[in-house]
Formats: sequence, structure tokens, C-alpha cells
Amino acid sequence: MALWSGRFTENVSEFTQRFGASLPVDKALYAQDIAGSKAHAHMLAKVGVISHEDADAIDSGLERVKNRIESGDFTFDINDEDIHMSVERALTADIGDAGARLHTGRSRNDQVATDTRLFAKKRAHDLMRANVALRHALVEQAEKHFDVILPGYTHMQHAQPVLFSHHMLAYVWMLTRDFERLAAAERAADASPLGAAALAGTTYPLDRQMTAAELGFSKVIPNSLDAVSDRDFLLDLDYACAVSCMHLSRLCEELVLWSTSEFGFIELSDSFSTGSSIMPQKKNPDFAELIRGKTGRVVGNLVSLLVTMKALPLAYNKDLQEDKYGVIDSAKTLEDCLQCAAGMIETMQIKPDNMMAQAKKGHLAATDVADYLAKKGLPFRHAHEVVGHLVLLCEQRDCNLDDLSLEDFKAASPLFEEDITSALNLESIVKARTTEGGTGNSVVRQQLDQAKTVLAND
Ligand code: ARG
Repeated sequence: MALWSGRFTENVSEFTQRFGASLPVDKALYAQDIAGSKAHAHMLAKVGVISHEDADAIDSGLERVKNRIESGDFTFDINDEDIHMSVERALTADIGDAGARLHTGRSRNDQVATDTRLFAKKRAHDLMRANVALRHALVEQAEKHFDVILPGYTHMQHAQPVLFSHHMLAYVWMLTRDFERLAAAERAADASPLGAAALAGTTYPLDRQMTAAELGFSKVIPNSLDAVSDRDFLLDLDYACAVSCMHLSRLCEELVLWSTSEFGFIELSDSFSTGSSIMPQKKNPDFAELIRGKTGRVVGNLVSLLVTMKALPLAYNKDLQEDKYGVIDSAKTLEDCLQCAAGMIETMQIKPDNMMAQAKKGHLAATDVADYLAKKGLPFRHAHEVVGHLVLLCEQRDCNLDDLSLEDFKAASPLFEEDITSALNLESIVKARTTEGGTGNSVVRQQLDQAKTVLAND
């Protein structure tokens, strides 16, 4: 019999029992449920609604339930519907009437909102730690291969040479923003719904500030209807997870490309690669692909909750029970992806010679040659056209800009002189890009320091 079965004369069928249950999912919230119940019991005793003896019995009884769950000695029964009723039933079986007094002045509606907020806060925090670990791995690679040059791309075409460290740091900044989003999701969850009861508050003299403080919430939600029906904090966490997964997917896409024989910029370590069951030569970047692939599900979880929430009238509706699947999954998936990406980045082998060889192809110096002319007074648009013709000449001769003779340059414009050779040197081209945030070695060094300072504080 369900704990709410008093007004019913018929039992629900086995099918509807299973259909309506959330236990297989929300048992993940057992620790939060027990913490919430302890805080509620302590507060009930303090305001005189239950005796201190009952509160003590509830406290130690809940501790025993927790130990049983953690030691695998607890049988979850789908007939209990959800984690809240599983814990309460086990408690009451253990301590009798004191356990049956626990739910005074409380509803599963404020209970589940409380548990879910505690869970979201914890998971956001776990993800922030995993985010920091990946940023460390990226920063380390940037430091180790600071001066390595690779082609920078736009439209996947060779564009201008950039530092490998600059490229790694681009991901560090994406992840820094992900960290901020996770921190914002943690803050969004940080308000206590406990004491809102079913929807309207209660007649008991509950001290909501006290339970909020015991549970580590920095404030109390001011409106009981909002308290039991708001799931914005889960949307925030889902969103933070989705954006971060999207960033990891972009990183992994590059790792996949870079480990092809066409690029050959990196080699992933054996521990982050797999072989083929038929082709003995294969070394596949499965884990990078998997991170890219899992992103789809995490984005889906965000959309799914948005659609669930849309058009829900106040206050609690059972639809809300669907809120936890996606967010539990998204948090676990992102956590695993962050860990996997950190391992891949830490152990990958960089191939600077191949990067440089590619950077020499595709006339990456062209912009700098145009700038050379512009700095000598030729309007940039005209300079652009002159260099365009030189590039065409190279294409016709199947050579690079630095294979052209000084005469070739002079024929294109009398402004060219001996010093054009330094304008063609990739190292100097990179070094010269000293705009704040640019790829010049000196400013990337500053950028690296800045990223490390932020990282040290996160
Ligand atoms: N299992 C429910 C959920 O996750 C708990 C709240 C149920 N409340 C109710 N009035 N049926 O949302």
C-alpha cells in the first residue's frame, strides 16, 4: 500500500505503479533526501512541533538508512514510487511513530524541489572541478609547445600562421566561460524551497531560515507556489552542460582531424585510441568521436526539459517528475567527457614539423606581404590586389611566395625591396601580431599568464 493510499479503495495496477514511479532515477538523490529530512526534523523539534526525542530517533534512523543504501544493504521497492517514500518507509519501519511524524508540515513537492536543488548544486560543483582539470591539461600543452606554429584556418582553408599555444588557449577561454556558466547554475540552485509544503505553506510554525541554513542554502525562496514549481535552476545546469559539451565536441573534432594522415598534427596516445577488428593498421580516435557524439544527447536533454516546462500551470504537476532524467544524465556525461578530454590532451603527441610543413603551404604570408606594401604607402586595397597577382603567379608556377625572386616581386610593385624576405618568414609573421589577444609570441605569453591566473582562482 502506498503511503498516500488512505482515500483509495483500489490499488493501482502493477503497470501504473511502475509507470508512475521515479525511483529508478531519483534514488540517485538519496543523500540529498536524507539531508533534507534531517534538517526538517531538527527544525520541527526546535519550533516544538515534534519532541527532541523524536528528532533524535529520526536523525539516527536516517543515518542507518543512509548506511544501508551505501553498503548495498537496502532493497529499493518500486512500490514506494520514489526515493522520498522509500526512505520514509524504511525509517518508519525502523523507528515507528517518530518516523511517521517526519512528514509533518512538509509535502513531497517541497521535498523533491529541495533534494533536486541540493543535487544540482553538488553536481555543478563537481563539474567545475573537472573543468579546471581539463584547463590545466590544455595550459600545460600550451606551455610545453609554446612556440610551435601551425596554419590557422578560416573556412577550413589555410589563412594565417598561428601559435599552437594560442590555439590551445582559445579552448581554455571557452572552458573558462563554461566554468562561469556552471557557477551561475550553482548559484541559481542555491535557494531553499523547503517549507513551501504542497504549494501554499503550512499552518505549522516552520522556520524556513533554519532549514535553509542547515542545508547550506544562502536564502529562502520567497513564494511557495514558485518554490515547488520552478525548475529554472535545472535548465541553467542543462544549458551549462550543453554549451560545455558543444565546446568539447569542437575540440574533439579538431583532434580527430589533426590525427588523420592528411593533417598528421598530433598522435593520440594508445590509451585513448582503439583498433579495428578487421583492419590491422587502424588506430581510431574513438574517444574523441564519442565525446562529439554524446554532445547530441546533452543538447537534447536541455530541449527536452524546456518542452516539459512550457505551458505547465502553477504549481506542482507530475510532469515535473520528468525533470531529473536529463539533468542527471547531462551532468554525468559532461563529467566523463571532461575527464576523457583531459586524458587525451595530456597524453597526445604533438608533431611540430608536420604543422610547420603545412603552414608553409597555401601562401599564409600573403596578408603580411600586402601589409608590407601598405606600410610603404600603397593603399591596402591596391596592395591586396598586387599580392593577389603574386599568389596567382605562384599557383601557375606551383610554388610558394618565398620561392619567387626579388625581380618577380619588383615586377609586381616597385615598392618591394630586399627586406621582403623577412615579411615572408612565418616566425616573424607570427611574432609581429602583437595586438592584444593576437598570436604574437609576446602577447600569447601575457595571455597564458592571464589564463593561469584565472585558473588558479577557479
Ligand atoms: N516523485 C515526485 C517527483 O519527482 C515527487 C513529488 C511527487 N508529488 C506529488 N504530489 N505526486 O516529482
